[in-house]
Amino acid sequence: MLTIVICVGSSCHVRGSDEVAAALEAIIESEKLTDQVELIGAFCMDHCSMGVSIRVGDTIHSGVLPSEAAIFFDREIRPLLTGSAPQ
Ligand code: FES
Repeated sequence: MLTIVICVGSSCHVRGSDEVAAALEAIIESEKLTDQVELIGAFCMDHCSMGVSIRVGDTIHSGVLPSEAAIFFDREIRPLLTGSAPQ
């Protein structure tokens, strides 16, 4: 199981962490990846930059915008999954 940890600290919240989470959740559900990926929230990751911080494993990605959530998923998450080529 791959865990995507989305920062819901105040900086990230005002920059759209709810929308990023909703967009990622929609991808995970529509592609039936709920047995491979889970989404959880966490407080400030000390990477408060111009966008939402997301931790995957030991890597923190900062600056993810709601409009880029799908691109983020394709670039950073999909390669970590097995058998999840886009439909
Ligand atoms: S509020 Fe998200 S990294 Fe600080």
